[in-house]
Amino acid sequence: MKRSITLILALFLAFPAFGEDETQLGKHMDELSGLLKSLRKIDGFDEKAAVVRQAQEELIKCFPLIPALTEKTEDAALKAAQIAEYKKLLARNYVLLCDFELAFLNKNEEQADDIYDQLKKIKKEGHTAYIEDN
Ligand code: HEM
Repeated sequence: MKRSITLILALFLAFPAFGEDETQLGKHMDELSGLLKSLRKIDGFDEKAAVVRQAQEELIKCFPLIPALTEKTEDAALKAAQIAEYKKLLARNYVLLCDFELAFLNKNEEQADDIYDQLKKIKKEGHTAYIEDN
């Protein structure tokens, strides 16, 4: 019994994903992701637009935060540049979310689908640049 408790404890330490190490940024990103996924189950353009507005609110909360990978950058000038680029990418993501909202307000399903594809691309771009081994 004692040995299995030690083993579980060791696992938590060795693999932080098992523990509660999710960053504040990761939490907002998860919320954002959940909101976007929930759109599939929501009927009505106005209802979808309202969910997208909630997603925008989550993204806004990411702006003052710093990616864990960037936090590790030792060179101060390089770190400042990485943070500025990160905010630029979030800003592009935010514009896309506004266009997404507008597509629903205009009841334009085709445009909304196109923007959803662009959102997937920008997510990939952000994660490739700012998450280790991504
Ligand atoms: C619609 C677009 C996006 C969605 C749905 C999304 C979703 C997520 C999710 C679910 C996580 C947590 C799990 C994981 O690692 O996959 C995450 C983490 C993260 N995302 Fe995003 N993301 C998006 C866009 C972006 C963009 C544009 C950036 C960078 C500018 C970014 C930077 C990060 C970082 C750095 C983390 C790790 C947390 C940390 O370092 O503290 N994401 N994202």
